[in-house]
Amino acid sequence: MQTLKVELGERSYPIHIGEGLLDRPELLTPYIVGKQVAIVSNSTIAPLYIERLTQTLSGYNVLPIVLPDGEAFKNWETLQLIFDALLTARHDRRTTVIALGGGVIGDMAGFAAACYQRGVEFIQIPTTLLSQVDSSVGGKTGINHPLGKNMVGAFYQPKAVLIDTTSLSTLPERELSAGLAEVIKYGLICDEPFLTWLEENMDKLRALDQATLTTAIERSCAAKAAVVGADERESGVRATLNLGHTFGHAIETHMGYGVWLHGEAVAAGTVMALEMSARLGWISEPDRNRAIRLFQRAGLPVVPPEEMTPDDFLTHMAVDKKVIDGRLRLVLLRRMGEAVVTDEYPKEVLQATLVADYRALVDQLGG
Ligand code: NAD
Ligand code: GLY
Repeated sequence: MQTLKVELGERSYPIHIGEGLLDRPELLTPYIVGKQVAIVSNSTIAPLYIERLTQTLSGYNVLPIVLPDGEAFKNWETLQLIFDALLTARHDRRTTVIALGGGVIGDMAGFAAACYQRGVEFIQIPTTLLSQVDSSVGGKTGINHPLGKNMVGAFYQPKAVLIDTTSLSTLPERELSAGLAEVIKYGLICDEPFLTWLEENMDKLRALDQATLTTAIERSCAAKAAVVGADERESGVRATLNLGHTFGHAIETHMGYGVWLHGEAVAAGTVMALEMSARLGWISEPDRNRAIRLFQRAGLPVVPPEEMTPDDFLTHMAVDKKVIDGRLRLVLLRRMGEAVVTDEYPKEVLQATLVADYRALVDQLGG
């Protein structure tokens, strides 16, 4: 087992990464203050893992809360189901909420923990690659609004993150690819040598080679922990973690939550951010093409939805959380391995990025 730490003073917490951690009570019990524990999961993950986790917590009064599965359920109605269950079972303010699932469950369970009786203990047990390398670390919690992705929520750090890498064995291939989008993101924004490593190891990652996956998860979590430790509330560098997300969130919202997976939208959105960076002369076209090929090798879409017009993008991007005083700040690459957040770009370059023919570009590359 490897342990990393998110350094946030007295709110610091460990990220444990390894095989079979779901069966290790000693990794959980230090963070459970009372006798009550609520495991928030969904109808897909609960049948696979909730019994095992309940056994691990055999000394506690465990309440399973099983939600419907899907991004489309990341909303007020589903959040209310968590509060209904906690109140019906008379969970008090010493209860501990454990998220057992992907990013949707982690974000909703974390938001519920932040709100229930004004805040109760919270532990993340992420079960998708995406949630293991990104959403379980850093304390962003929340739900979607019909007008915008993740628009309602709270910063609320977990007490611990437990990543059992063997849980990826049951993950559908499309979901694994979606997680790889966020892994590739770390290489692009802050770790160029990691891109080379990913190019060398992509086939092993997709074949679920445990050692290779563990390395990718550790390296991603280390990058995320460093950024969160430096800028918990996203007043600066943390925004770089949103490379491709402004374009990607527009795709997710426009297409309907769950139609494009978050990681898929991030991949296509990142290609747009790279196209814009290339148009600004910050990265070269070969750099852009290198990233496109890596996304393709990860099994990800690299062309935005054909039905989305530039106006569709602009409408959705106008409610992005990086908009300040009406100015849309974008995460772009100054060079491979170095991201910047900026509103200093000519409007025409953004417009050209939105009308670019990505299908033709990818066809030219032979993809
Ligand atoms: P998800 O939570 O919808 O999980 C994907 C699918 O895989 C679901 O159907 C789920 O039931 C299933 N699943 C999960 N684990 C499984 C397993 N081990 N075996 C079989 N099936 C399994 O999606 P996701 O990609 O994990 O997360 C996406 C969400 O995360 C989005 O809502 C996004 O906004 C959010 N997110 C949040 C942050 C953050 O910092 N909080 C960062 C990135 C993404
Ligand atoms: N996923 C972006 C962040 O955590 O800031």
